[in-house]
Amino acid sequence: MEKKTFFKTTSHISIIFLTFFLPMATSNDDQQLNTLLTIKTSLNSPNTHVFDNWISSNSVCKFTGILCDINNMVLEIELSNKNLTGSVPFSSICELKSLEKLSLGKNMLHGEISSDLSKCVGLKYLDLGNNFFSGEIPSLSSMKNLTHLYMNCSGFSGIIPWNSLESLTGLVVLSIGDNPFHQTPFPEAVSRLLNLNWLYLTNCSIGGEIPRWIGNLTELINLEIAMNYLSGEIPVEITKLRKLWQLELYQNDLTGKLPVGLRNLTNLEYFDASSNKLYGDLSEIRFLNNLVSLQLLENEFTGEIPQELGDFKKLVDFSLYQNKLTGPLPQRLGSWAEFDFIDVSENFLTGPIPPDMCRKGTMTKLLMLQNNFTGTIPESYANCKTLIRFRVSKNQLSGVVPSGIWGLPNVDIIDIESNDLEGPISADISNAKVVKQLYLANNKLSGEIPSEISKAEALSLIDLSDNQFSGKLPSSIGELKKLSNIHLDGNQLSGSIPESLGSCDSLNDLSMAFNSLSGPIPASLGSLKNLNFLNLSNNKLSGRIPESLSSLKLNLIDLSDNDLSGLIPASLSVMASNGSFSGNDDLCSHTLKNFKQCSSAKSGMSSDLRTLIVCVLIGSIAMLVSLALFIYSKRSSKEHEKSWKENSWDVKSFHVLTFTEEEILAAIDQDNVIGKGGSGNVYKVSLENGLDLAVKHIWHNDSCGGEKKSSTPMLAKGGQKLKEFDAEVHALSSIRHINVVKLYCSISSEDSSLLVYEYMPNGSLWDRLHMFKKMELDWSTRYAIALGSAKGLEYLHHGCERPIIHRDVKSSNILLDELFKPTIADFGLAKITQTNSTKDSTHVIAGTHGYIAPEYGYTNKINEKSDVYSFGVVLMELVTGKRPIEQEFGEKKDIVEWVSSKLKTKESVLSLVDSAIAEHFKEDAIKVLRIAILCTSTLPAVRPMMRNVVKMLEEAEPCKLVGIVIAKDGDKKDKLQEHKL
Ligand SMILES: *[C@@H]1O[C@H](CO)[C@@H](O)[C@H](O)[C@H]1NC(C)=O
Ligand SMILES: *[C@@H]1O[C@H](CO)[C@@H](O)[C@H](O)[C@H]1NC(C)=O
Ligand SMILES: *[C@@H]1O[C@H](CO)[C@@H](O)[C@H](O)[C@H]1NC(C)=O
Repeated sequence: MEKKTFFKTTSHISIIFLTFFLPMATSNDDQQLNTLLTIKTSLNSPNTHVFDNWISSNSVCKFTGILCDINNMVLEIELSNKNLTGSVPFSSICELKSLEKLSLGKNMLHGEISSDLSKCVGLKYLDLGNNFFSGEIPSLSSMKNLTHLYMNCSGFSGIIPWNSLESLTGLVVLSIGDNPFHQTPFPEAVSRLLNLNWLYLTNCSIGGEIPRWIGNLTELINLEIAMNYLSGEIPVEITKLRKLWQLELYQNDLTGKLPVGLRNLTNLEYFDASSNKLYGDLSEIRFLNNLVSLQLLENEFTGEIPQELGDFKKLVDFSLYQNKLTGPLPQRLGSWAEFDFIDVSENFLTGPIPPDMCRKGTMTKLLMLQNNFTGTIPESYANCKTLIRFRVSKNQLSGVVPSGIWGLPNVDIIDIESNDLEGPISADISNAKVVKQLYLANNKLSGEIPSEISKAEALSLIDLSDNQFSGKLPSSIGELKKLSNIHLDGNQLSGSIPESLGSCDSLNDLSMAFNSLSGPIPASLGSLKNLNFLNLSNNKLSGRIPESLSSLKLNLIDLSDNDLSGLIPASLSVMASNGSFSGNDDLCSHTLKNFKQCSSAKSGMSSDLRTLIVCVLIGSIAMLVSLALFIYSKRSSKEHEKSWKENSWDVKSFHVLTFTEEEILAAIDQDNVIGKGGSGNVYKVSLENGLDLAVKHIWHNDSCGGEKKSSTPMLAKGGQKLKEFDAEVHALSSIRHINVVKLYCSISSEDSSLLVYEYMPNGSLWDRLHMFKKMELDWSTRYAIALGSAKGLEYLHHGCERPIIHRDVKSSNILLDELFKPTIADFGLAKITQTNSTKDSTHVIAGTHGYIAPEYGYTNKINEKSDVYSFGVVLMELVTGKRPIEQEFGEKKDIVEWVSSKLKTKESVLSLVDSAIAEHFKEDAIKVLRIAILCTSTLPAVRPMMRNVVKMLEEAEPCKLVGIVIAKDGDKKDKLQEHKL
């Protein structure tokens, strides 16, 4: 009764109020309008039109992204993923008293979050994730009604305000991962949030063990705590989380077995515990029959893969590489759903390849390298048109390769190396339009190489060595313009080498040894400007060695054991000592002892050749050369001379080159200094034959005065160190990449070493950007330099036997050739020239002020990601034209802080771009700047790997309007799921 009366009364009153206070309502509208217009002026949206209808003549409730309640009060602001820049005016926003949802995720917002945010007490949904904020997360304890909180991947640092979060017991979603927070143990506050069904704490510096109370959060559907420092075992309590649909534990230090009872989590669809130290068998997985994705790669699991997995009806991704698993794969594996990929490489698996993984026609990757699989390649894969990778190398597969495999239209690598496979390469290969690499070595493949191979026009590598191929090489092979490596060694090929091979312009490595090839060496090979290795040994080649080969700059030539005759061309003669020409009875020479003298008086042979002592081939014996004859250097003191030039020099040599160490030593003079680097002076040496070299002089101890007095790092004394130095130099000199400077050889004495490099006529990027010889580099040149040097660094990180961390990436270590092609220089030197280095060489501190990653501050353990930081600084230099440290940045500020202080508005972002860059390229430059910002993230784990930097840079190609993916899709982390190969 009472209730009813009350109700009546209120409705009466509201009618009166409505008519009476109408002007009041308008002023409320005005206030909302003012607030929203303030937001509009603070935020910018470069290429979208979100704010176009945010104008005073319009009702706020009609503004894009605004939702009102029935009283026309603003209830929701939904502006996520709109390319917004600027900083957020929280004090204005929180004047909207009815606001329940504020969604600004996936933009490019920056600045600190002011404590005004806590005035938004009515918020239920707050999304600030995937932005470029800085500073700490302020207290949120006033937002008692908050159910959804997204702050992930947004640049927040410092300490997570757990005290303010633990009272938010209504939280259903808590997503604060991917931020560079201070390291903390697993926060107990989370144990109070019993309504959570989504917890995203990936990549947030959490250490210690996973707490047992995790089992109390029984509403959890998604638990992501990957990429932290979690150790110990996975607690058995996790098995109480019966609603779990996704469990992500990858990249921690977890050990022990999968907990007993994991089998109860039958709702689990996504399970990833990769890259931990887990062991034991996989029997708990047997009952998880709703799994869509199972990823347990890089652990120590043993035992067999449970047969039940063959009946998992939803399984799509299956990655267990690098474990110690044995036994066969379930034969019906992947045959039910739209299966995508399998990677079980590097285990001890046996039995046949499951035949039906591509039954639904969706499979993209089949990776089963390095196991003991037997049987044939199932015919079914010959029809699997979606396959991008087919890699089954290093197994015991046998039988004929199904002919359709050769013609898979989307495959980019076919790798069946080191098996017992038979049959020909079929003409189907003409359909393989995107195949780049064919690894077929070490099988029993036979037949002729089909002329249709020329239609596989993307081919860059063909390795057919050690098979039973026969017949002639098709002359169509000359059409393969991208071919850079061709290895045909150890087959039964006959006939002549096609002249057309000379039109494979990209050819770098040509090897056809141990066949029955006959006829002459085509003169056309002399036009292969990029050729580095040429091995035609052990064939039946006849005729003269074409003079045209003289123009090549080869690292290796082997024409031994053929029937060649005539004069060995002069410039090739220097290699004769390595047996390059032996076993050809009719070859002659004017100078080489082991060959008969040429009868005709063709002469022209330089007698200098006899005095040439060259850097010989890799692995050859070092020569001791006494250099007592030195009379040198007017400038330096007599003692100085004595201290190094009169020593005996040890030539460690790696590439075939024609110069004498006298020539080199003679040029080590102040007049020829072209650079003074951290590890020593660099000299230009012009050889008589016209070749220019760059020579770096590094001191091993401090017994010398003069030029080395700078901050030059030195090798500790003693032969042991010298040996390490030599070993390191040897390793470095074997690196070959178009964007990595070539190290030809080292010449060492007891107290110093000379490193002989190829010479880069355009000097360093630093010089071109900042020094007196500054040049106007246009954006396309800068972009090409960015991409090229990224590729060089990527190669050092990922392309070598072991990753090479540069440790001193900077613009002065990026050298430019005559066409401004960039090469990375000085790699690895920081390590080998370090004094007092501890045993663990990854602890060596190196680098240059302005380029040094912040983790140096709190740890001396560095990895590739420190190089990525430094590279980000180089990208900023390219975009802004500024040095890493400039007065104008203000006290104690570097370029990274300066850039981040300028992300407020589109105008200020554009003002960062070097004024020398043409207006129409500025947007393109901003794209690269975004990558630079990502590379210079404070937390190493947030920085991309170099291979991703390369990808992103490729997408930022000028004038191609491809956006850079900075924001991640949802808050599920992107990760490398496939095999590292
Ligand atoms: C929180 O929600 C309740 C129930 O919907 C509501 O009555 C209360 O006003 C809200 N609190 C704030 C501060 O808006
Ligand atoms: C977890 O739940 C158990 C049983 O309800 C309770 O005794 C324990 O205190 C809880 N742990 C935490 C940390 O809240
Ligand atoms: C954001 O910018 C990118 C690239 O400039 C563009 O492709 C994308 O469509 C923009 N997003 C929106 C929502 O307009």
